[in-house]
Amino acid sequence: MDLKNRSLVSITDFSKEEILYILDLAEEFEKDQRQQILNKHVIASLFFEPSTRTRLSFESAVQYLGGSIIGFASADTSSVKKGESLKDTILTVSNYSDLIVMRNPLDGSARYASEVSPVPIINAGDGANQHPTQCLLDLYSIRKTQGSLENIDIVMVGDLKYGRTVHSLVQALSLFNATFHFVSPESLKMPSSVKTWVKNANLEYKQYTDLSEAIPHADILYMTRVQGERFPDPLEYERVKNAYILENSMLGKSKENMKVLHPLPRVNEINEDVDNNPKAYYFQQAKNGVYVRQALIAAILGLK
Ligand code: CP
Repeated sequence: MDLKNRSLVSITDFSKEEILYILDLAEEFEKDQRQQILNKHVIASLFFEPSTRTRLSFESAVQYLGGSIIGFASADTSSVKKGESLKDTILTVSNYSDLIVMRNPLDGSARYASEVSPVPIINAGDGANQHPTQCLLDLYSIRKTQGSLENIDIVMVGDLKYGRTVHSLVQALSLFNATFHFVSPESLKMPSSVKTWVKNANLEYKQYTDLSEAIPHADILYMTRVQGERFPDPLEYERVKNAYILENSMLGKSKENMKVLHPLPRVNEINEDVDNNPKAYYFQQAKNGVYVRQALIAAILGLK
């Protein structure tokens, strides 16, 4: 599998075989996380938008592998604050690193960065568009808990309009014959472009407003946060922010094999009384992010 020097901007940049290669490699890193293969490599981490899991799990991945990481956690501490363009920032940082991980609030910014950068770009989230590394760790978590990625029923809940993780995940699971159940308020429905993707793959999706109606179908119940920061109208955010709150009592009719996933952070959409249910998997899911990001870095740098 030749992923050397490839950027990952959208999950659709990778074929099914390439995705499975990364997941298999991540399994290898889960068994042996401290392989010193990144000696003398420098990774840049440019976060123009807040993050806990993505930024720190990339940093953790690099450090466990013996590499070095440079970068910033906020545009306010970079020369972007003085008016420097994204192109100039990327061209500059590419002088100092072998690979750039970037999160940016603008849809399409990661693709643009990959077009101007002499080193590979990994998209760590661009606006409401894509979050392909979250997608890889979601796939890893699904395969680990369900035994396979094929033929699963996934119920996606909450902000399906602005939630970039669900956009990437629908595209990826369309390669694995999934059945989709979309639960959202009317104003936060899955975008037509994503639903068209499902149709073009000859797969089924159903749309719901009632969460309890969808839960019994789920192998995976994928909760999402309402993305307040992306709403043009704060009043509309206030209206929908508490649309779905999963409580432990609601899981009574769920399948035995069902797992609750959430890309996190959560605000209030999963009540804390779910955390001790064995079906809650979101913190293990976040841990899987380190193995998947180790695999991705190693593959792109041609070390695996
Ligand atoms: N899942 C995710 O992207 O979390 P962070 O925003 O904390 O990185």
